[in-house]
Amino acid sequence: MRKRVPLFVWAGFFCLLASCSHPSRTVNDQIYQMQMQIRNLGDSIRTMRQEYSPGLGELMTSIQLHHAKLWFCGLHSNWPLASFELGEIRESFGTAINLVRGRPEVQQLPMIYPALDSLTEAIALRRPDQFKTAFMLLTNTCNNCHKQVAFPFNVITIPTAPPVTNQSFIPPKP
Ligand code: HEC
Repeated sequence: MRKRVPLFVWAGFFCLLASCSHPSRTVNDQIYQMQMQIRNLGDSIRTMRQEYSPGLGELMTSIQLHHAKLWFCGLHSNWPLASFELGEIRESFGTAINLVRGRPEVQQLPMIYPALDSLTEAIALRRPDQFKTAFMLLTNTCNNCHKQVAFPFNVITIPTAPPVTNQSFIPPKP
């Protein structure tokens, strides 16, 4: 006796057939979904970069602190720390040039490099007098830029006291 195939088996069979007959559509849907996810991810990363990248004022405040520390390193011939502080200043200027958007003033920032290079040399040669001259050049360049970008009221000076009391600028005894 011939057995009748139950209706639900037929139904399942046709469903399978229908989905198999449009494989490209399913794959295209998946690709589209993935493309949308990648796009959303890109948008999130862009927003995060905008939200977390420091502003020019914040970078300047950090530069100001390292500028002050650097002076006391030079005064005490603490060359390893001086080199470190100078590195921090260089890094912050680099961040400003690469990350700060919407501030046309950053185009003037490269004027600082000759002064930074003079300091690198003075520190490498461990020469206090050359260090002082290079530090004056640095400070004058900070102010020249402030004048050029309409911030002449922002005057940087040679510090008269260490900027913090919880760090030693005197080289530690070996
Ligand atoms: C583009 C040229 C430029 C150079 C070079 C520059 N600055 Fe500035 N500086 C600015 C601008 C523009 C601002 C204003 C930032 C703002 O609007 O928040 C500023 C602001 C400042 C501020 C004010 C921050 C505050 O809130 O009080 C300090 C401090 C400062 N700079 C220190 C320095 C020091 C120290 C140097 C040198 C080692 C230096 N700057 C070099 C352009 C420059």
